[in-house]
Amino acid sequence: MSMKTILRLLGIFMILDGVLSLLFGKTYLRPWRRLGGPISVYISFLLRWPDWLIRVAGAGEAVVGARTFAATRVQVSEIYGVFAPLYDPFLALWNATLARGVDAAVDQAVSEYLPPGGRVLDLGCGTGANLARLQRLGIPFSQYVGVDLTPRMLAVAQSKLGHLPNVTFLQRDLLRDPLPDGEFDLVISTWVFSHLGRKADEVVEKARGRLKPGGHMVLLISSRTDSWLDSLLKSIEKAILAEPVPQELYLSFPGRVALQRLAGGLATLVVLRKET
Ligand SMILES: C[S@@+](CC[C@H](N)C(=O)[O-])C[C@H]1O[C@@H](n2cnc3c(N)ncnc32)[C@H](O)[C@@H]1O
Repeated sequence: MSMKTILRLLGIFMILDGVLSLLFGKTYLRPWRRLGGPISVYISFLLRWPDWLIRVAGAGEAVVGARTFAATRVQVSEIYGVFAPLYDPFLALWNATLARGVDAAVDQAVSEYLPPGGRVLDLGCGTGANLARLQRLGIPFSQYVGVDLTPRMLAVAQSKLGHLPNVTFLQRDLLRDPLPDGEFDLVISTWVFSHLGRKADEVVEKARGRLKPGGHMVLLISSRTDSWLDSLLKSIEKAILAEPVPQELYLSFPGRVALQRLAGGLATLVVLRKET
């Protein structure tokens, strides 16, 4: 195993361990004592600290982990390639904690803007969270196409949901490749735009070309918060080669019909409509 790989794995461990310590404090640390040996001695020592100090130390550890990971200079697809098996539990934890309320807002937008039996294009579909959303909400659709850069994320999506009728997962780089042919009633993209940088507007333009007249685009975009957690979040995002989309950029997307700031600014939901 190369030094770079060891640093990456260490960085990932520190991010996860740090975030879990931040979120759950002593409750997270206690089970580690069962490992015995020096780890158990170390954890018993930490458990003497007040809970708030453990959480602050967790935030610090996550920042150092994120910087360590960022220093290994990887590609987005490599990061998600490593992360793919852990992505679903991470997303569940993310939605239940820091991003509380975000998922419900996306549910609401999808229910409102996808006509029954419509066609859906999911940009950066990852492990298929939005297809699972359609299933969970019981919204009928005639076609779902999910595109993503990372083969391993697509492989997870395919193994969970690939058996469903009228579902296709395709590997595409949103920044370089053409989008799949066809006209869609809904284009959705969640937690992806922060990877697209200043070219996000070109992707929106490309996606508009795939919308039916009167169709909608629902974009969940990672944005800046005013919370003290912001610098932690910024470090983690930087480690996964993401950065919040500048407000002036998403405000310039054409055809905006709704904009909602969610979870204290952590995410912004933007809905665009293609004129008829
Ligand atoms: C945070 S995950 C979001 C996955 C899914 N949309 C969700 O809500 O769970 C970001 C996804 O964007 C994909 N991605 C990043 N840059 C991309 C690009 N240029 N083209 C296509 N997919 C990209 C990654 O591979 C990853 O699967």
